[in-house]
Amino acid sequence: MVNPFVDEIVLQVSKATEMSCGDVRALIETPPKPEMGDYALPCFALSKIFRKAPHLIAEELCAQIAMGDLIDEVRPAGPYLNFFVPKANLVGETLSAILHHGADYGRGDQGVGKTIVIDFSHPNIAKPFGIHHLRSTVIGNALRNIYRALGYEVVGVNHLGDWGSQFAKLILAWNYWGEGELTADITIQKLLELYVRINEEIEDNPKLEQEARDWFRRLEDGDEEAVRMWQVCVDVSFKEFDRVYDMLDIGFESIAGESFYQNKMPGTLDRLRAKGLLTESEGATIVDLEKWDMPPLIALRSDDATLYGTRDLAALEYRWETYRFEKLLYVVDVAQSLYFRQLFQVLELMEYDWREKCAHVQFGRLRFKDGSGASTRRGNVVFLEDVLNRAIELTRKIIADKNPDLPNGEQIARDVGIGAIIFADLDSKRTRDIVFDWDEILNFNGETGPYLQYTHARYCSVLRRYDGILPPRDVDFALLNEPEAIEVVKCLARFPGQIQKAADEYEPSVVTTLMIELCTVANRFYNAHQVISEQADLTTARVALVYAIKTVLASGLSLLGMKAPEQM
Ligand code: ARG
Repeated sequence: MVNPFVDEIVLQVSKATEMSCGDVRALIETPPKPEMGDYALPCFALSKIFRKAPHLIAEELCAQIAMGDLIDEVRPAGPYLNFFVPKANLVGETLSAILHHGADYGRGDQGVGKTIVIDFSHPNIAKPFGIHHLRSTVIGNALRNIYRALGYEVVGVNHLGDWGSQFAKLILAWNYWGEGELTADITIQKLLELYVRINEEIEDNPKLEQEARDWFRRLEDGDEEAVRMWQVCVDVSFKEFDRVYDMLDIGFESIAGESFYQNKMPGTLDRLRAKGLLTESEGATIVDLEKWDMPPLIALRSDDATLYGTRDLAALEYRWETYRFEKLLYVVDVAQSLYFRQLFQVLELMEYDWREKCAHVQFGRLRFKDGSGASTRRGNVVFLEDVLNRAIELTRKIIADKNPDLPNGEQIARDVGIGAIIFADLDSKRTRDIVFDWDEILNFNGETGPYLQYTHARYCSVLRRYDGILPPRDVDFALLNEPEAIEVVKCLARFPGQIQKAADEYEPSVVTTLMIELCTVANRFYNAHQVISEQADLTTARVALVYAIKTVLASGLSLLGMKAPEQM
């Protein structure tokens, strides 16, 4: 579903310039002030193609645009060409679409028959689900919802860090300091302490390093004792991860951790070898990437133990064979960007033509304003569960303060507290570093999750006061002619296009930004006009607008992975 006004502009500009519709569409903007127009075409990019100053292009194009039901005025303004659309049509078209499609408004079908694989969340077994995995989890989940809304089949994969030398270190540590058998009643906290302690000991005593390597060897060879202890670590971790995923209400289509690729690696190594890509270096087997100015990807260690990268190569091949994806997205920290460049370069050397379908969707760091750090080695990890619980606790206090009689208050405290964390994570462009400040995140009047949810609840309560049928029928859209109403409609009309944009740019913040804008213009409308009045027709029309606002806010919240309580 798209915006017919933008479609018309795109079509006409594309005809006049012989640019593709997609290229034109990517250029269309919304001017900062309504007086300037409803949509704008900046002509800077065109000036490169036509070798003319942008303002001349704007003028020439202007003469070629035909007026009609979808465009009623076009004006060049410096380097921009501004379009005005007939407001009554804009209101009518947009609101009828929303009333008609409800929660499906904004969805598309361009993804039908195509699969997107999203590798996200992927915490590490035997370590706590730390705040550093929050970003991947929340961004990955939002992208999953966004692609699904566009009709794609989405496979969310949790590539758990469940294999590697750290387990050997843990097993070693348990053998030194543990009491009796390692069983599943051990806590993650205890495992973490053991891990920290063994790392410290290894630093002082390199002999232990070798012992750990021996254990890893045994683990990779399927030694019964090693595998049993590893399995305990996995089980204990799952208990904790599941609690966090339940709180966030996030699931996966496939939970295939690194260990899943254990038996697939020999094939991958064979193919690398057959392509002549493997060389020996200081006892290790590597793929040399010097030509591309990158360090080598280590395929096998000197003791033949396999590595993270080899498992990822096996996973890449497996995923291609299994899903024939349109895209494979890795939602992983910016710290691994060199690693993904290495990985993708190896795909190129393997001459896999699907290499272009793989992308590293990176994101910046997250830290707390109060200075909480996150390094497992030293043990000062911030547990995500604690963060979520703190958010719920603070929200509970706010509710007790502001609205103590709120029915279902406990559930709402959870929805809002967790929503605040999700929103704060998604709110800025994903590549930026973000700083969590508790006061800001939970500020009901700021650009926050609670504000968005509160605005949604407010319009739900307006609708509860209306005693007619919802969604309203026989609406006279022409009555919605005030500038405040039109601004709301324009914002609503952008929703489908912004979902598309969020998908194209792997950028959930496109949705958060639109949602905050919608709250602003909706509240401006609400403060200026009485929705329910004695005038029946006007009431119906305004209720229709409020209904549309509520519908799109709820859809936006759900794309972001947040709940939309109807009362707050
Ligand atoms: N578990 C890894 C970490 O915490 C991230 C895994 C990312 N996914 C992948 N296929 N490499 O750093």
